[in-house]
Parts: sequence; C-alpha cells; structure tokens
Amino acid sequence: MEFRERTIILGVTGGIAIHKSLDVASQLVKSGAYVHVVMTENATRLVQPLQFQVISRNPVLLNLFNAGTDWKPPHIDLADRADLFTIVPATANTIGKLANGIADDALSTVAVSVHCPILLAPAMNGHMYQNPFVQRNIDALKAQDIHFIEPESGDLACGYEGTGRLNTVETILQTMTDILKGRDSESTPTKRAGDLQGTRVLVTAGATREYIDPVRFITNRSSGKMGYAIAEAAAQRGAEVRLISGTATVPAPIGIEIQGVETTLEMHDAVLKAFGETDIVIMAAAPADYRPREFTPHKIKKTNDTLTLPLEKNPDIAQALGEQKTHQTLVCFAAETNDLLENAQRKLIRKNCDLIVANDILAEGAGFQSDTNIVTLLDRHGTCEQLPRASKRDVADVILTKVVSLKTRKK
Ligand SMILES: Cc1cc2nc3c(=O)[nH]c(=O)nc-3n(C[C@H](O)[C@H](O)[C@H](O)COP(=O)(O)O)c2cc1C
Repeated sequence: MEFRERTIILGVTGGIAIHKSLDVASQLVKSGAYVHVVMTENATRLVQPLQFQVISRNPVLLNLFNAGTDWKPPHIDLADRADLFTIVPATANTIGKLANGIADDALSTVAVSVHCPILLAPAMNGHMYQNPFVQRNIDALKAQDIHFIEPESGDLACGYEGTGRLNTVETILQTMTDILKGRDSESTPTKRAGDLQGTRVLVTAGATREYIDPVRFITNRSSGKMGYAIAEAAAQRGAEVRLISGTATVPAPIGIEIQGVETTLEMHDAVLKAFGETDIVIMAAAPADYRPREFTPHKIKKTNDTLTLPLEKNPDIAQALGEQKTHQTLVCFAAETNDLLENAQRKLIRKNCDLIVANDILAEGAGFQSDTNIVTLLDRHGTCEQLPRASKRDVADVILTKVVSLKTRKK
C-alpha cells in the first residue's frame, strides 16, 4: 500500500461499523501515513476519541472552537495538508450534509474545506441505503467526482439482510491507494509535487561532536529527525537536495546522499563550500557552540578529583551565511528553552535570516528526538505563524511551503 508520508484525514461518523475505522486508521499508520482523525459528536457516542488518538498518534479533531491556539483555524490547516480525505463509515446523515454543502460541525466543515480527493464509505441499514433521498445525495456527490466504496450485501448489524454493510478494510485501503496513485499521475501538479523543481536545497541536520580526547566528545541531543524530514520533503517536491549531517539517530532518508561531518568546524566548511551553488539553505542541525580548546591525543586519565576543560567558541555557521547571502533564502532554527519569540526574533535580525523556525525544546511533543514538533515561523516581513503540534514530516512541508512563498515574494 502506497501510504508512506501521505497525510490522510479520516472522518468518522456515528455508524455501527465504526470499529472497522479503527482498523483502517491502524493499517494506515503502519503503512507510514500521517493520519488525522475527525469525528462527529455521534461517532464519539459509539467509540471513545482516545482510541483513535492513540492509534493515529495525533489528536482527534472534534470541535472547531476549542482546538488549540494556532491562528489558522484547524479545519483549514488540516484541509491544506491532506492528500486524501476519507469518511469511514459515512452515515446517511453526513452524506446528506456533504451533498448539500452543510458545514455545521468539524467533520462537515473539513469536508467543504479540503482540496484533495474525497472518498466515502457508506454503511447503513438496507432500507436507509435504498431511501431515495439518500440515493439522490449519493448521486449528487458522485456527479462532483466524490469517490465511493459501495457497501456490500449480506447480514446487517441491525438484524436485516440487504445492501448496506461497510465494505472490507482491505477494499477501503486498496481504493485509497488507487486514488492516491491516480492523483500522482495526474498531469496537473498538486500543491506539493514539483514546486521545488530546479531548486537547489541545502539542509543541515543532526548533532556535531567536539572531541576532548580520542574517546570522549561534547555533543547534544539532536536526533536529525527534523532535518531528515525536511530533506525528504524537499526531494519529494522536486528539489535537488544536498544533506550535510552530523550524527543522527534515524535512518538516512531514501534516495538522498548524505555528506557526513563530525565537528562544527567541518560542518561550517562543508556548508560554506556548497553555499554559492544553493538557492535555499535550511539549518536544522544543532552544531555545538563551543569546542575544547585543546584536543588531548591520549585518553585522559582520572587522576584528579576535578577536571577543567577550557572551551572556545565555534564559528557561527548561520551568521556566516547571513553575511555572505546573495540570492539565497536562509532558514534557521531557534531551539529555545525560554523567551522563545524574543530570542527567535533577535536571531532573525542578527543572522540576516529570511525565516526562523522557533521551537520550545522543553515543550512536550517538541524538539530533540521527538517524532512531532511544535514550531512558530517568523519571517523577515514580520509575519509570525504558530503551528499546532504535528509530525516532523508535516512540519517540514509547512516550512517548505512558507519558503516557496517567500521566494515568490522576493522575485
Ligand atoms: C447504535 C446505532 C447505530 C447506528 N448505525 C448507523 C449506521 O450504520 N449508518 C447510518 O447511516 N446511521 C446509523 N445510525 C444513525 C446515526 O447515528 C444518526 O443518523 C446520526 O444522526 C448520524 O450522525 P453523524 O453523521 O453526525 O455521525 C446509528 C445509530 C445508532 C444509535
């Protein structure tokens, strides 16, 4: 199944076949998709949202009016990121709302906001399914290119026999795969595909090591996840990606060659060498600010009770790029533990960046080693955009979309 790094919105309504939706969510996550569940209030009477939250590894959207602090309404944010929107199971009621453009809860509002393919898997009592109004609504949606998975015939949960049973999880997943494949092969580019075609993107990732002696070094907790996610997303959007990486705890992104470095000095030299032939630089690495003033060529013995290690400052890579910048778009990260926005704003100016991605590394679900991040984007035009907690891959795409719009504005 082709779900790796796809963002899927899974709508869940109040149908008795709701348990199959848990299975769909689970299979999607196992196949590498980013799954965001949106439930109707009636669906929550049948299954606890917590079950979907744990399985999808994301918060469940239930209500538009109490969903976080982001400036962007949650239905628009989700809708903008989705590759596919599917409702499993789709009740007669929700089908009716969609057919008439009604947007009176989170799910139906997301449905009218998405600009990706929509797939509905209806499930209901046979008489409900045959009802002329329900059939009229289904026909109206089909006429608008909404995809359907026809329900099956057989024993229904309500004790009846007839057509209305939710199709199998396998069929649902296969149909989703087919739709995504069809979308990929469409000649019109999607919002992501190809928007970085012909662009040279340099990404730094991971932690550097500053050696004290042959066996010991100073480093930090950076895992490389954020940088690798950015490199992968940029390549998927058509960029020519160069990834300069310190140590990382995650596997290398597929199809991207990594230039490995150990120390901040090595990273500095590698980045500056490549800078002239780069259009966008995204500095997601965590290079050490200081290194031991002296490297001891033999393992230091523990003879003394205390040991003082004089440190000296490493070159500031971002600052050097900011000073040399000509046509390049420079994106830096500000990993902070306090006064996040003030520090990020100062860094933006001091380093002559175009965009700062600020994150509070102490916040739960953000920062080093986490699979998710919570970031605020500050650009050189004074815009400040707070994003909700999202997978690092999703955050990567939002950053790249922002960079594309900054580059367009520059022209
Ligand atoms: C136990 C139970 C099972 C239900 N199963 C279904 C179903 O399979 N399909 C359906 O269309 N409606 C079913 N309904 C009715 C819907 O829950 C009802 O029409 C509700 O308004 C749908 O709301 P929603 O679309 O906002 O989730 C069921 C209701 C109950 C109480």
